[in-house]
Amino acid sequence: MRDFPAPTAATWSYAETFVPEDDVLAAARARAEEVGATAIGSGVGAALRFVAAALDARAVVEVGTGAGVSGLWLLRGMHADGVLTTVDIEAEHQRLARESFAEAGFRTQRVRTISGAALDVLPRLTDGHYDLVFCDAEKAEYSSYLDEALRLLRPGGVVAFDNALWHDRVADPAQRDEQTVAIRDLGRAVLDHDDLMPVMLPLGDGLLVAKKL
Ligand SMILES: C[S@@+](CC[C@H](N)C(=O)[O-])C[C@H]1O[C@@H](n2cnc3c(N)ncnc32)[C@H](O)[C@@H]1O
Repeated sequence: MRDFPAPTAATWSYAETFVPEDDVLAAARARAEEVGATAIGSGVGAALRFVAAALDARAVVEVGTGAGVSGLWLLRGMHADGVLTTVDIEAEHQRLARESFAEAGFRTQRVRTISGAALDVLPRLTDGHYDLVFCDAEKAEYSSYLDEALRLLRPGGVVAFDNALWHDRVADPAQRDEQTVAIRDLGRAVLDHDDLMPVMLPLGDGLLVAKKL
């Protein structure tokens, strides 16, 4: 392994905010803070927008709507007629997200919000139909989200997991709490899967991305 110095706080902040947020994203972030639905940062957001645009994504699943910050980034990268299907267990979070999407000017037909527990809702979605699945809900369920994503994605589609470095805990073997262990297990499952091409992006709290071959 090549020995790089860890980035300084200034370098990290420069990279995180390289693509800035606009007022619509800032308003969505404020709504997220009101209800404690921790939103992705602009580094992860820009990466998601990029992946959605590179795929020219027409069908995206998001697990963990929150107040719509990540949804806004995804919609901005997707094909102009693409539909975001977004799942959250909290109906109130989805109400705030719909406000965010409306404020950004997205037609209501572009977003399908489904209220419910991810592992109840995902099995009802269509096999092989989706270009991108973004997971940001219950960390202990990440390996199950991976199983669902592999079924939902078309060949060539991409799955992405936020918090893949989980507050610097995943890389520290002394940390054995349930969420850290679950995210570590997810990383191993992605690496070991013959049909996935992974990359770990150290943006925000870590974004694990993998293409289904
Ligand atoms: C970190 S927030 C999502 C933030 C959002 N992705 C963003 O960046 O704007 C996690 C969300 O997952 C939802 N959630 C937690 N457990 C869930 C579950 N089992 N099924 C579906 N949603 C869940 C929470 O209600 C919360 O809104």
